[in-house]
Amino acid sequence: MRKKIVAGNWKMNLGFQEAEELIEEFMTLLEKQELKTEIILCPPFPYLEMASDYAQEELFHIGAQNISPFEAGAYTGEVSASMLSSMDITHCIIGHSERRKYFNEDDKMLTLKVNQALTHQITPIFCVGEALPEREGGKHFEVVRRQVRHGLFHLDTNEFAKVVIAYEPVWAIGTGVTASPAQAAEMHAYIRTLITERYGNEIAEATLILYGGSCNAKNAAEIFAQPGVDGGLIGGASLIAEEFLSICKQAQ
Ligand code: 13P
Repeated sequence: MRKKIVAGNWKMNLGFQEAEELIEEFMTLLEKQELKTEIILCPPFPYLEMASDYAQEELFHIGAQNISPFEAGAYTGEVSASMLSSMDITHCIIGHSERRKYFNEDDKMLTLKVNQALTHQITPIFCVGEALPEREGGKHFEVVRRQVRHGLFHLDTNEFAKVVIAYEPVWAIGTGVTASPAQAAEMHAYIRTLITERYGNEIAEATLILYGGSCNAKNAAEIFAQPGVDGGLIGGASLIAEEFLSICKQAQ
């Protein structure tokens, strides 16, 4: 059976002190539990070192929200994969719809980011998902197929086996509207079919596919119970320690 992952994407929220308090509160709550779920916190870049110091306790891993497509050098403002791995950052969100939309990240750039992450032993959490007009126009499978193929299918089998995928329908992000459990299950199954076609059944069955989009303590259990849903990528609800812990527990 595949393990479950719950990752918290803090996005561009919280001051430094608030961030530290959130981690401390979450750790205190988490220490009393014995969770099998793999937990990943993805704070903004400037808080990664602080967060990764806490993660030494091995209760959770730390991921970045972005990564440079370049190796090193004159790229002002960028943070490289080797910098992240030198700080014990184990995961990185790549291809989030907010980066595709506001920072014009296209498939080509995302492949470079995925390559950089893998070269430096960082697990990509690769996001895919359709916008509302695409779903309403019946194009959601086509959109997700393109994102998965163009973003990931250049990888060889060994490389692909290290990738985590997150299905985040854009219309469900930050809107309070989640995909229905059936919609999530349907898309996860579709993504797994694509993986089977490209890499075979064994790899497809081993690939972790998370759901993201307005997931919270009230709806997580139902979504995580769907076949093919291997946990969640959580935005707003990951900023509240108790709620995030409750979501992590529901992924058991
Ligand atoms: P929300 O959980 O706030 O909808 O955000 C989901 C998300 O974008 C996680 O990456």
